[in-house]
Amino acid sequence: MSFYVTTPIYYVNAAPHLGHAYSTIACDVMARHMRQRGEDVFFLTGTDEHGEPVALAAEREGVTPQELVDRNAPRFRDLMPQLNVSNDFFIRTTDPEHQAKVQEVLARIRDNGHVYEGVYEGWYCPRCADFKTDAEAGEDNTCPIHRTPLVREKEDNYFFRLSAFQDDLLRLFDEQPDFVMPRHRYNEARAFIESGLQDVSLSRSTFTWGVPVPWDSSHVFYVWFDALLNYYSALSYARPGEDLTDRFWPAQYHVIGKDILKFHTVFWPAMLLAAGLALPEHVFVHGFLLMSSGPSKAGGEGPELVKMSKSMGNVLDPFAIIDEFGADALRYYCMRDVSFGQDGEVSTARFAVLYESELANDFGNLASRTIAMVHRYRGGTVPSGEPDRTLAPEIDALVGEVCALLDRADLTGALEAIWLRVRRLNRYVEEQAPWVLAKDEARADELDRVLVSLAEGLRVLAVVLHPWIPASSEKLLATLGAPELDLDGARLTAGRLGAVDKLEPLFPKPK
Ligand code: MSP
Repeated sequence: MSFYVTTPIYYVNAAPHLGHAYSTIACDVMARHMRQRGEDVFFLTGTDEHGEPVALAAEREGVTPQELVDRNAPRFRDLMPQLNVSNDFFIRTTDPEHQAKVQEVLARIRDNGHVYEGVYEGWYCPRCADFKTDAEAGEDNTCPIHRTPLVREKEDNYFFRLSAFQDDLLRLFDEQPDFVMPRHRYNEARAFIESGLQDVSLSRSTFTWGVPVPWDSSHVFYVWFDALLNYYSALSYARPGEDLTDRFWPAQYHVIGKDILKFHTVFWPAMLLAAGLALPEHVFVHGFLLMSSGPSKAGGEGPELVKMSKSMGNVLDPFAIIDEFGADALRYYCMRDVSFGQDGEVSTARFAVLYESELANDFGNLASRTIAMVHRYRGGTVPSGEPDRTLAPEIDALVGEVCALLDRADLTGALEAIWLRVRRLNRYVEEQAPWVLAKDEARADELDRVLVSLAEGLRVLAVVLHPWIPASSEKLLATLGAPELDLDGARLTAGRLGAVDKLEPLFPKPK
């Protein structure tokens, strides 16, 4: 089966921050997990490079928009290896192939009768690049997200007949109740549709930085229509000489933040319907990571990338964490501390607590102790006997639970299920007290069983945890001499392990 997952594409006029890392890590967990299930996976991320904000920023800096985006896009591209993210392609909306596809699809939408020429007059937020309805603008005509004044715009536009899709969208929401997840976001999107849809601008004519409208060279496409199509266009040119569209379209998951719900759950399906293209299975809307102090901006913008320092207090700088603790620690923390789909506060203090109590103590120590005991009591070779029958049902059930949770994108719930087993194995060590068994030759079989159970349990955990903490998992599996990652093998098995290496602490104490 194919599995196609996408992140939002990020605006290049801001620096990468924790919010961008968050969406990207979440998609990476899903992609890596599905690869372990043997699915045919394609994972896309990239940058959104057109539109007014970029044109204005370039003007301020005295460079061309192309120069500006060429300078900034690599910062996002370089973020991926830093986060140990396994994206299959990095799209830039300035790629000529993307632009050609945008023109092709939007011309088709026009040919299908869903585009007309008109004059737009209304409120616009340059920071959202969003035309606000009167209801969204509120009485004071400020942006509900940024709390900054909206601009009154009047310009010649081509319009997309969004209003004509109201019934089709409601039918989609009826027939596909998990089209938008989680449920409270489905309700929010549905309420927006039910409140009545207005047609939306498809093009802009007051600036030129965008994909030219093929039937009218004085217009460029409105940046959101250009940007959304990245999910479709990328498949046609990600692999030179090959078109992956039939293989991966439509996407199983578009993962987005709650700030861009309207575009993905209303505009996007309507556009696809208008173009006669298949609709994605799910749009998963995650919440925001919030910081209680420091310079994160009010009103929905991402937590700013700032250097962690005492005066900043609780500001969580992803790059400082990666430098000091490694990408796994950041990946784990983001997926663990805030339930995926909800908003939640993050902080350096909570990071430190979870790093020490869960990664270093619960998991890291379990690994160190187990490997050390195999060396101390059995010369570095895992005994070949059967693992403990009392442990097997609980450990072997894990992989099925994790698959079921990941099928609903419950990335935090899956970690919880895994951690129950981490704790179970720690209790097992205490209950069995191998150091006592080791003193009694007559109990050598018992000690063998405990050691193989622990080593195998650890192997299962490392396999299942791989999507969240890939580097540590690979290190541990290499130590165990069992590098295979497929989930079919994530069950306690006799005779699977043999000689093991020495293991440095997986999550060392901070310097
Ligand atoms: N370019 C548009 C998206 C186009 S998709 C066809 C855009 N870009 S953005 O750079 O502003 O990135 C927005 C995304 O970053 C959010 O949807 C969310 O996924 C992520 N986040 C930004 N701030 C965030 C938090 N504070 N917390 C979690 N994620 C956040 O919008």
